[in-house]
Formats: sequence, C-alpha cells, structure tokens
Amino acid sequence: MINLQFQYKHVTRFLSEEEIYLMQDEVDISHSLLIEKAGKGNQYLGWIDLPARTDETLINTIEADAKSLREKIEILVVIGIGGSYLGSRAILEALSSPFSAFFTENKNPAVLYAGQNISQDYYSELIHLLDKKEYAILVISKSGTTTEPAIAFRLLKNHIEKKYGPEEAASRIIAITDGSKGALKSLSEKNGYTTYVIPDDIGGRYSVLTPVGLLPVAIAGYNIRELIEGANEMRKACVETSSLLDNPAACYAAIRTSLYRTGSQIEILVNYEPSLHYFTEWWKQLFGESEGKENEGLFPAGADFTSDLHSMGQYIQEGQRMLFETVIHVQKSKHLLSIPANESDLDGLNYLTGKTLHQINEMAALGTTLAHIDGEVPNLDILLPTIDERSLGELIYFFEFACGLSGYLLGINPFNQPGVEAYKNNMFALLGKPGFENESEAIRERINEE
Ligand code: PA5
Repeated sequence: MINLQFQYKHVTRFLSEEEIYLMQDEVDISHSLLIEKAGKGNQYLGWIDLPARTDETLINTIEADAKSLREKIEILVVIGIGGSYLGSRAILEALSSPFSAFFTENKNPAVLYAGQNISQDYYSELIHLLDKKEYAILVISKSGTTTEPAIAFRLLKNHIEKKYGPEEAASRIIAITDGSKGALKSLSEKNGYTTYVIPDDIGGRYSVLTPVGLLPVAIAGYNIRELIEGANEMRKACVETSSLLDNPAACYAAIRTSLYRTGSQIEILVNYEPSLHYFTEWWKQLFGESEGKENEGLFPAGADFTSDLHSMGQYIQEGQRMLFETVIHVQKSKHLLSIPANESDLDGLNYLTGKTLHQINEMAALGTTLAHIDGEVPNLDILLPTIDERSLGELIYFFEFACGLSGYLLGINPFNQPGVEAYKNNMFALLGKPGFENESEAIRERINEE
C-alpha cells in the first residue's frame, strides 16, 4: 500500500476535471509503451521492475561492505556527476540533520561529494580536509569515462595512495560502473577495488535505487530495505493500472502535460523543508534531462519556501504567467517544537503561543497556494506522510514513473541525453584531447573570428 497522495484540487480553476480525464486514452497508450517496453529508449527501462528484482544477496553485500567501511572512516567521498550523484545526495540530505557535522557523538561517516565540478578551490580545500581525516572513496560512473569524475578520481586516488600506501588505499576505494567496459572498469580490475555494477538497462538518472544510491545511503547508516520497499509499493500502484483515478503518477503526468499544452512553460517543484533542497536538484535533473529535447519540454525549476518567497515569490505571484507549481507537503515532522509564551509580547507573536512550527509552516503553505492560484499559478499537491526512507522510496519511484510517462506523452525519448555532448565536444577540442584535432582547429578559428 502507498502512503503518498497526489491531489489536484488547486488546479481545477485552470483545468476542469473533464479536461484532465480526457487525457486517459493517451495515458493508456503511453503506459502500455512503458510497461511493455515498446516505446522509445526501451533498452533503458530496467528501472521499472528494479525495486521488485533487487535481490537479497545484493542487499546483504551492500550492507556488509557498508558496515566494514563505516568502522574505519570519518568521511566518505562520493565521486560522481548527474545521475551518478544527485540521487544519493537527495536521500542523504533529506534524512540527515543539517547540523550532523557538529554532533561529536554522531558515529555515521559524513558524506562529501566530488566529481560534480572542476573548481580548483573546491578540490584544494577538500584535499586539505582529507589530509586530516580518515576517509574512503566511492567512485561512480556508468560510462567510466566522464571527465569531471575522472579528474576528481585522479586527484583523490593520488592523495589516498600517498596517505595510506597503495594496498590500504585500494581497500578504501569502491567503484560502481559498467559491467564490462570503460576506463573505471579497467582501473578497478587492475587495482583490485571492490566493484558494483550498474545494470545495462538503467540510465544514470534512473539509477538511484541501484548500488549508485543504495551504497552511499547504507554507508551513511540508513535503511536501504525500507527505501526499496517504499519504491516497490509505488511500483505496484504505477504498473498495475493506467487509470488516472488509481495511479497517482499517471494523474500527475496527465495534468502536467495538459498544463504544458495549454501554455505553461515552467514547472516549479516547491518544498517547505530545507532538507528537500537536493531532492529538488535530483528531480530537476530527472525531468530536465529526460524531457528537454526536440525543442519540447517544461523547464523544471525549484524553490525552497518560505525562503524563496522572499526572492522568487514576487515573480511567481506577479511575473509572466507561464508557470505552475508542484508542492511537496510533508505531513509529519520528525521533532516537536512550539512557540513559547512571552509575557511582554514585544515581538507581537503571542497570537502564535503554543502553536507548533509545523502548524505555522502548514498555514504558510496554504496561504501561499491560495495567493498563487489567485495570481493564476496552478498548484499541484503531493502529500508525503513524513521524511523517512520508505516515503522517499515512494516519492522517487512516483517521479521516475511520471517522468517516463510524461516523456512518452510528449513524443520524445525520455531515456537519452544527446544534448549533453555539445559542451563536452567543445571542451575536448579546446583542451586538445587526442582524437579531437579537427575540432580543435575549427574551434580555434571560430574563437579568433568571434
Ligand atoms: O542521466 C544520465 O545519464 C547522466 O546524467 C549521467 O548520470 C551523468 O552524465 C554521469 O554519467 P556517468 O555515470 O557515465 O559518469
């Protein structure tokens, strides 16, 4: 059974129920294409059944490797970019205390990230920190050839081998990559690293429930079984029926597609919990890289409320009318905190005495939704019972399924990313990568002309 709820009551002013349910036939077709693996990019649909086919042996191995690493490290550096890092970061930031680095009694290793930028200052400061800490490296790249993580791994491999010696260093490096090809695969074999495989039929941004996401989450001390269980429950709800009444991901995909067709250009994923900031980053990648092609697709944006109500809030209320919001409401907080009484009431807040911050946050959310729909911004609501592994599993699968479905409704292939190559080719040409000699010459001429 799923606990997540999807609601569209704040959209009916813009899209009637009748218009929404007119999408049913189209959704039926896209749903069959997905689950019968008959649509575009069908070689990358392994994520659909993944939560049901993740076997006990793999889970046990992940938990055992996580346990032995946890005993000897203070820091885990996860090296990866895009789908090879955003999923684990989304889950870990959602589950962890924002202040965990300051709790000395906290025995869970801190997880830091590398390979997601090429900043000289970032790496210099990271290496400076790692000089003083016990650490291990988890390097993740499906292709095994992506430049940013490859650079980070060269730097940190060099550091860890100098710090611990080659043999101990090798026991502190785990690689997750393709089962048969790529530079990372050869490096891992040569150096004897523990290695996990990303299945061929699962693309980067759909890989969070493979070892790519499971291993960092287990090393950080969280329950991967609950995560998989939540995803599996949502899988059943999504796969079993295409009915907009019973399949929440289908309903969400139908409505966001209708909004796109009637003029919306931007979807903003809104949260009221700062710990969901990176969940939004994961969602932006999932939808942006899946839908943004052939001059189509909603632009996926994110907002952290109430912070961003004091910046983007003005635009959302009164700027160009081309956007809608999908709001994640977390129904139960992990902690209880209410406003204390204060006799003098100099701050004028006594009207809130005894109210919990959660209640105040909920009223901020409701007030914002009402204001935004008055400002012609349709709102969709996702009710998440709480932020724990199980709920996050449900939410992840909900978005993955909705994304696949939305891509098919749009008529594009949601499982490739040809546009990502353009910047890489220019960068390789500019840096003189072997094999790019002609491009190098052409780009230099172009720069001189411009
Ligand atoms: O979704 C995708 O396929 C991409 O975002 C990749 O995850 C990203 O480019 C990293 O690729 P790789 O894991 O091959 O290094």
